[in-house]
Order: sequence, then C-alpha cells, then structure tokens
Amino acid sequence: MPVSIDPTQTIATIRPALHGQFIEFLGECIDGGIWVGPDSDVPHTDGIRQGVLDALKELEPPVLRWPGGCYADTYHWRDGIGPRADRPTTFNENFGTYELDDHAFGTDEYLRLCEAIDAQPWINVNMMTGTPAEARDWMEYCNRATGTELADLRVSNGHEAPYDVNLWGIGNEPWGGGGIMTAPGYVDAYRAFASAMPRFTGSVFETPKTYAIASGPDGNKPKERVAWTKDFFAALNEYRQPPIHGYDLHFYNWNIDHETDTPTSFDEAGWDRVIAGCLELEDVIVEQWALMEEGLASVPMPESTLEPRLEHIDLVVGEWGNWHRDAFFARPALFQQVTMRDAITTALSLDILQRHADKISIACNAQTVNVLNSVILTDGDATILTPNFDVFMMYKAHRGAMALTVEPVDEASGAHLFASVADDGTIVVNLTNPSMTDEAEVELEFAVPVSLAKRETLAAATPTDHNTADAPDAVRRVAERIDGEASGRHTVRLPAGSVTVLTAQQG
Ligand code: AHR
Repeated sequence: MPVSIDPTQTIATIRPALHGQFIEFLGECIDGGIWVGPDSDVPHTDGIRQGVLDALKELEPPVLRWPGGCYADTYHWRDGIGPRADRPTTFNENFGTYELDDHAFGTDEYLRLCEAIDAQPWINVNMMTGTPAEARDWMEYCNRATGTELADLRVSNGHEAPYDVNLWGIGNEPWGGGGIMTAPGYVDAYRAFASAMPRFTGSVFETPKTYAIASGPDGNKPKERVAWTKDFFAALNEYRQPPIHGYDLHFYNWNIDHETDTPTSFDEAGWDRVIAGCLELEDVIVEQWALMEEGLASVPMPESTLEPRLEHIDLVVGEWGNWHRDAFFARPALFQQVTMRDAITTALSLDILQRHADKISIACNAQTVNVLNSVILTDGDATILTPNFDVFMMYKAHRGAMALTVEPVDEASGAHLFASVADDGTIVVNLTNPSMTDEAEVELEFAVPVSLAKRETLAAATPTDHNTADAPDAVRRVAERIDGEASGRHTVRLPAGSVTVLTAQQG
C-alpha cells in the first residue's frame, strides 16, 4: 500500500518555536563554547565565538532557552550584569561542570546574542535559591522602557531599548534539581512567582506581554509524570488561578544501561534501541495532553465576570534529546559526539513534535553546543557542525507550514514519514529509514498531482561516522534538484540509516 499524502488533511500550523534550542552554563556549552570572551585569540564578535555565531545565524533557531536547566535554579542574574571586572566569581557545580564561574556571559550578552541571531529569548528564573522579588526585578531590568532604576541600569549597561522578553520559565525541574518539590508545593511557590510577574501593558484589560511557563513533569518517569500532572492541576484548581500559559515537559532519550555503548561505538542492537527509545516521546505527549485537558476541565468558574476562566495551557517541551551513558563521565561535562544514530532520533523527535503541532507551542533541543544532543561542537579554535545541525536545516521548510495527517510508519518499508504543506502549496515530506543496514523503497501517493523539485539526503558511509575538526564534513547532507513530471505517485529510494526531505510542487 502506498503512503497517502493529502494536502487538505491538515492538523495545525507548525509554530516555528518547535525548532527551539537550549543553552546552559553546563560543561562547555556557554563558557568555552559559545563564549570565548573579548580577549580570546579565537575569532569572535564581542566575545561570542565567530564559528558558533555564524552557524546560529544560518540555523536561525526561533527560540533560545537560557540560563538553564538546573543552573537556572542557583543563578542570581545580578552576578551577570555591568562591567565584567566587577562581576563576582562563584563555582559552577552544575551536572559535574566543576569550574569557576566568572559570569562574563550574563543577561546583556545573552540577549544581544538572541538579537544577533533573531531568536526569541526564553529566560528561566531562579525559583530554588531565588525569590519572586529577584525574578520580578530581572523582568523589570529586561523589559521596562524607561524611568525606573532598573530600566536606567539596563541603559547604563549599554542597551537603551527594552529587550521585550516575552517567555519566562518559573523554575526548572522542581521535582529534581530544582528543589525535589512535590507538585502541590511547586504550585504554591509558582503562584507567588507568576503573580509577581509585571504585565508590561498599558491597562489591566490588555493581554500581558509576559508568557508564564510552569514546570511540567519528568517525561522519563512513567508513574511520577502522571502523578505530577494530576497533582499539579488539583493544586492549581484550588481557589484562583495564577497566570499560566505553558506547561513544560522534559523528555530525554536515555541510553545509559549498556556500558560498551558509547556515542561513537555501538552495534546494531544499540542503534535500534536508541532509535526505538526516542519514539516514546509521542506517547508521553499524548498522555500528558489528555491529563492537561482533564485538569483544565476542572478549573472552577470564577465568581466574578471580570476574571476570565483559565481555559487553555500550551504544552511545551523545554528539553529533549539523546542522553548517552558516556556523557556522565565526559570532560567537558555532558559532552557527546553525534552520529547518524542521533541525527535519526533528532529527525524522528522533530516529526513527533510537528505532528502534535495542535498541542505544542515551543520545544527546545538539549543542548545547542557541546552538551548532549548538540547541533554544534567546538574543539580548540574549530567549530564543528554535527549531523543534527543538518537535520534542523533540512527541516526549516516546515516552520510555519501546516502539519498533515500522514501514516507515521510505512509498514512495507519500515520508513518513518511526516509531511506539511506551506501557504504557497509546497508540500515537504520527511522520510527516515531507521534500518542500520538495509535500503528502503517507499511508494508515495499524493492526492493531487505533484512534481518533485528538490531532495536533501543525510546519510553516513559508516553508522559510527561523525564530524570532527579534522573531518568536519564526514556526515553532511547532500541536496539535489529534481525535474520530475507531475504525477500522483512517486517512488523514493532511501539509503540505509538516512534522513531524506523531499520538496514537491503541486500541479
Ligand atoms: O540538559 C541537561 C540537564 O538536564 C538540565 O540542566 C536539566 O534541566 C536536565 O535534567
């Protein structure tokens, strides 16, 4: 049976923010990776490594989440503003980083980076060792136009205009590194932090310009994640509801139980296991969305017509990606190389997120540089683009397009599929062949005549191949133009262990 692709069978618009990235003060993600400092011999612009800056400009991540992760819950933003010589030195223990922390890259450096690459900032406030007052001041520093002490402080630090940061996360993983809280305990604290958020509007009747993101569950704990979301909503539904726009689920594809399996050394069983593991994200999204709908259905009706009832919360996936066992022993902390095995799970994870575009507003790959599921690695002076970078580049065509209802797996070939249609009618189809050894052939049946116009393919000569400073293009996508005849049926051949993106024009 061919796989049917019908551009009228739409799910929802794929918000570009589903292709977000996450950076943290962890290992060499920021310090030593993105940030080399203004005195470095490594080429840079205002302290940002040039290779990383150029790569991020090409990638155009729609969202960049910062400063953590777990780091956010011990971070005091005032340590990272003003003249660098005056910033305090603290110690960063985050996930085994174990380095002095000079706070050279702080709020202004981060927000200028977001401006340079045109990414929407998402700042996570410190809920564990910080206070609602500190968080509120941070928002004031970033967003108040003029006239206050904090707005003037931002201006004196070189940024006249407010940064207009819209996305604010309240804590991070409160069930773990963020305080080992209970869901009701977190909701109580959340109420104070979210209620302290300035609205940055001209009147109380305007929609707040701040989008509050609450912490959702640990997606990797099947029992706890259900209990967390049920208990979260039970506590949220008591009395009145604080501002809440997003609910942040984290899901890592753990590969930690096999000692001999490393990011660059694995057998076929390890390849299959990791690829199968990433697919659980879909079940977790469906399960969590159902629990959220159940929770929202029980929100009490306010007693005053001036208070609107809370009707909707977006699902957010603030951290996702592969986490291999080796990362725990790596220096710098949580460094992982990236092979086609990771590129395939990145492609399949993005397919899942895009297929649930009706539920998810934002998702962030963990993490952008030198940590876990990286799109960029650095080695001395060198900046290396991983195969994950290619997947994100190939998938850019889906941003803002409509996700289509397509059978996710072709039974005949084992290939995974996803498709979207853009406003101009262009149909983009992803085909991933998860087999480490066998080619696949997929029959596509379009509901309208289409001509295939472009094909991009990412595959490796050997499954464990990866990009390094000496061989930066060992695994790189290949693009080809196709001058196909308009037809309803097309056969596509897929190399073993590959990701293919086809562009088709209608008519
Ligand atoms: O991405 C690495 C860590 O994983 C983050 O700091 C934390 O939020 C998660 O547990």
